[in-house]
Amino acid sequence: MRTSLIMQVLGVAEAAAIAAAEYNGRGDKVAADQAATEAMRRAFNDIDFAGRIVIGEGERDQAPMLYIGEEVGQGGVGSEKIDIAVDPLEGTNLCAYNRPNALTTIAIAPKGSLLFAPDTYMWKIAAGPASAGRVHIDAPPAQNVAAVADNLGKPISEVNVCILLRKRHEELIAAVRATGARVRLIDDGDVFGAIASAVPNTGIDLYLGSGGAPEGVLAAAGLKAIGGTFMGRLAFDLDPDGAAKRERALKTAGIDLDAPLTMDTLVRTDDAAFIACGVTDGEMLAGVSKQGGSLTTTSIIMDAADKTVRFIKTIRRGQTGSIQF
Ligand code: FBP
Repeated sequence: MRTSLIMQVLGVAEAAAIAAAEYNGRGDKVAADQAATEAMRRAFNDIDFAGRIVIGEGERDQAPMLYIGEEVGQGGVGSEKIDIAVDPLEGTNLCAYNRPNALTTIAIAPKGSLLFAPDTYMWKIAAGPASAGRVHIDAPPAQNVAAVADNLGKPISEVNVCILLRKRHEELIAAVRATGARVRLIDDGDVFGAIASAVPNTGIDLYLGSGGAPEGVLAAAGLKAIGGTFMGRLAFDLDPDGAAKRERALKTAGIDLDAPLTMDTLVRTDDAAFIACGVTDGEMLAGVSKQGGSLTTTSIIMDAADKTVRFIKTIRRGQTGSIQF
């Protein structure tokens, strides 16, 4: 994909983050999500490409915008056909309560290459490039933790494992602590947790646990782009509507629903990019901030095509202000 398209999509992530950040700490996750979604859709529609939402805000009948299958972009003759996975505001509660690591997230890839993941749960494991191919979704936590310690060349007692704080993870948390590793519990936002496992200085070496399957595709796009590792396993049993969703997925997903999901199943290309922009301050990305009339955003782009990770700080001059660094 052209770098110019990726830079335009960066602008989409930034626009959504700026819109969502107006709601940081205001206690209204629905309004925050809506603001991010509207801004994201508007910005996508300014781009001259033929985008198709593969992972979005839900099915067409539930979500007015960025629903699965929605076409976005100017779509002129000959324009690039792109699949898009979005979570316009990943960590709606994190934004509403001004907690760390609320992000806007987007993955883009050539048409047909991102998995239409069912909107259910997924068990996930993610780690950085040092552990690529050396951890497994079906291995016991102790084995995965030991492998990461070995790959990073540090004692198990210094390995930090990020896990969502959920009742269903009690056993997992106990098993990880029993290895001697440290557990970093997060309230929400497992795209951050998974991606951060591959980004130095985030304090996360390994991500384990279950969260949304759509979020799994987003994380897999980023980790695949930078040579990290991600595996998933669909977990319909954690979902009250799991049986019905499984029936539907049997017809639509086109994959073995019981098999471990590798990065190549989730993201069937070597040409995907993952883009995230900080909404609230966090260990990986600063949130949106205002200085005088300027607005500053911080984003990450993980691009498989040119094998880069870019951290991008953008300072925008506001309508009334001048640029302030
Ligand atoms: P929202 O942004 O939709 O609020 O989701 C946040 C999140 O924590 C995801 O990061 C994660 O995958 C999922 O929710 C976990 O779901 P649950 O809260 O049901 O355990």
